Amino acid sequence: STSTGSSKDDGKKSEEKIVVGFSQIGAESGWRTAETESIKETLGNDSRFELKFSDAQQKQENQIKALRSFIAQKVDIIALAPVVESGWETVLQEAKDAKIPVILLDRGIDVKDESLYTSFIGSDFILEGENAAKELIKLMGEDTKVNIVELQGTVGASAANDRMEGFANVIKENSNYNIIKSQSGDFTRAKGKEVMEAFLKSDGENIDAVYAHNDDMALGAIQAIEEYGLKAGEDIKVVSVDGIKAIFEAVAAGKANIIVECNPLLGPQLAQAALDLQAGKEIERWIKTEETVFVGKEAAESALPSRKY
Ligand code: AHR
Repeated sequence: STSTGSSKDDGKKSEEKIVVGFSQIGAESGWRTAETESIKETLGNDSRFELKFSDAQQKQENQIKALRSFIAQKVDIIALAPVVESGWETVLQEAKDAKIPVILLDRGIDVKDESLYTSFIGSDFILEGENAAKELIKLMGEDTKVNIVELQGTVGASAANDRMEGFANVIKENSNYNIIKSQSGDFTRAKGKEVMEAFLKSDGENIDAVYAHNDDMALGAIQAIEEYGLKAGEDIKVVSVDGIKAIFEAVAAGKANIIVECNPLLGPQLAQAALDLQAGKEIERWIKTEETVFVGKEAAESALPSRKY
C-alpha cells in the first residue's frame, strides 16, 4: 500500500471515536442554549468523541427524522432531548433493532416498553414543582390568601407536565392557595409575556403570585407586570425554575423572588455514560443532577458571580 503512516493513523483514530448523535429540541430558552453548549463543549473538545448535532426547531417530527438519520449513519449512541413525552415507540424500536443505545437527556418520555431507552440523565421535575410551591408558601405565609397564575411549559413536555403536577400536589394541601389561571407559554420569553398580559387583563389586581415553569417565561411575565403598572416581586411574587443568570439578576433587583434550580450542564454526565456504555459497563437507569433553591435578594446576589449559565 502507498498510504502514509500518518494518514493511516488518522483514519484509525477516527474509527475508534465514539460517535454520538444528539437530537436537541431547539433553542427556546437560556437553559436549553446552556445545555447545547455544555454538550458541544464536552464532547466536541474530547478526541474520544465525534458529535453529530441536530436542532429540531421544537418539532417532534424533526427529531424522529434526526434519529432515523443517526440510525442510518450507524452512530454508536443516540442522545435524545425529547420535546414531548408521547409518540416515540416506533423510532425507538428502530434504534433498538439496530442495537444503538438511546440516552434520554433532561426530559422524559412515556413508553410502555422501558427497554426502548437505556438511561435518563436529568432532574426530578416533580420535585422542582413541589419545591416551587413549598418555597412560595414559606415566603407568603400559610395563612395568607394567595391567588396564583401559572405559566406552563410546552404542551405535552415532561418538564411541563411534571412541574405542574408537583406544584399542584403541594398547593392543594392549603386551601388559602389557589391556582386561578394556568396556560402554556411554550417556555419562551415572548409567549410568557403574552400569556401574562392576558392574565393581567382578566384578573389584574387579584393576582398575588406567578409560577412559571421556566425563567424565560418568568422574565416575560415580569415585563408584562411592569407594563401593567404593578411591581414584579412585590405586588406579584415571581417563582420560576431553571436558574439562568438573567433570573438571578432579576431576583437580586427585587423583581423576582424564588429560583428553583435545574441544571442544564449535562455534557460531562453524557460523556461519562457514553464511555461506560462503550466499555460494556452497566449505567444507572436515572442519572440525577444536583440542584438547589435560591430565595430572595441576598441569596441571588451572592450566587451570581459563580453562576455558569
Ligand atoms: O426540559 C427542561 C426545560 O426545557 C427547561 O426548564 C426549559 O427552560 C427548557 O426549555
